[in-house]
Amino acid sequence: MRDYAPVPLPRIKGPARTGTHVPLIDRYLERLPFEAGDKLVSLQEGSTPLLQAPVISAMVGASVRLKLEGGNPTGSFKDRGMTCALSAAVRDGARAVICASTGNTAASAAAYAARAGITCAVIVPEGKIAQGKMAQTLVHGARVISLAGNFDQALTLVRELTDTHPIVLVNSVNEYRIEGQKTAAFEVVEALDGAPDLVCIPVGNAGNITSYWRGFKEVGTAPRMLGFQAAGAAPLVEGHPIEHPETVASAIRIGNPVRWEDAMNAATESRGSIRVVTDAEILEAYRLLAYREGMFCEPASVASVAGLLKYGADGAEQVVCVLTGRGLKDPETAIANNDGRIITAPVEIAAIEEAVLGDP
Ligand code: F0G
Repeated sequence: MRDYAPVPLPRIKGPARTGTHVPLIDRYLERLPFEAGDKLVSLQEGSTPLLQAPVISAMVGASVRLKLEGGNPTGSFKDRGMTCALSAAVRDGARAVICASTGNTAASAAAYAARAGITCAVIVPEGKIAQGKMAQTLVHGARVISLAGNFDQALTLVRELTDTHPIVLVNSVNEYRIEGQKTAAFEVVEALDGAPDLVCIPVGNAGNITSYWRGFKEVGTAPRMLGFQAAGAAPLVEGHPIEHPETVASAIRIGNPVRWEDAMNAATESRGSIRVVTDAEILEAYRLLAYREGMFCEPASVASVAGLLKYGADGAEQVVCVLTGRGLKDPETAIANNDGRIITAPVEIAAIEEAVLGDP
């Protein structure tokens, strides 16, 4: 593996790092395992929007807001945990990090490792990660191992590897990841001046639902947590690992989540549950968000909205759906679901008139 020497991280001088335009760790320093003055690996993550969703609100009869985690620097919620995992790794003298990934963790790890000046390797299931994520991971210079296997097998292998080599594992088994991701719950509570009644969230390896629940509890709140898995990859709903998980939502194509127990605890303690949505329901919510709310999210993200639409708000007045990643990460799915709306035309005004003004 290429071995770059870590670059010294700058201490930022000048105006105080206050308000929301600060590294996530600075914003929530007293609640995270870091000290004032620690050098941070940050791309100014967090402080993401909480957007009202009028169409979905009307459909379910509740006030629904979308936590737009695609607003993070690499376009997914992973950056919250990655700033913590990489800052800690560098602080502890690490020279390399590794993860197994369905794509977003890889993209985030690659970006933060580049920022830190250390080496990054990722193991991804061959042919099963969306193109945008692969592009991100490559552009940041990570070593990409395309595994002839699935995510669960990749994770087993990286755990084995990091047991015997001095490479830091940055999957959500890493506690710093959970600590960083819990800050999204703080932001929701700040924005609403309290917790919503219901939080809907997609579930894959189950780190994020674990993090949100930890965050809500830390600030003395307890919204009901509803986690949603894709029908072909729903081990927590079926109660046993799935050997060959399948779903259009490639980010959550996971059959044996490492945070299994934590996720079940989050559901039970909060009087919520983990439920299932089909690929067709995911794609319907994907289209609805894009056509009607103007929001382009990747398919796994919209499992939260698909679940809310399927099961209803169940008496909740305030609902937050977490949209975990940006739509641009997965252009294949967007283009494959274009409903035949691309009209080819010759360079001729009559044809253009027909194409623009004619019946669709
Ligand atoms: N949404 C997106 C867009 C994701 O990328 C992931 C997980 C999840 C939801 C589920 O979150 O695993 O904490 O329950 N992606 C991981 C990855 C597995 O490798 O990028 P979780």
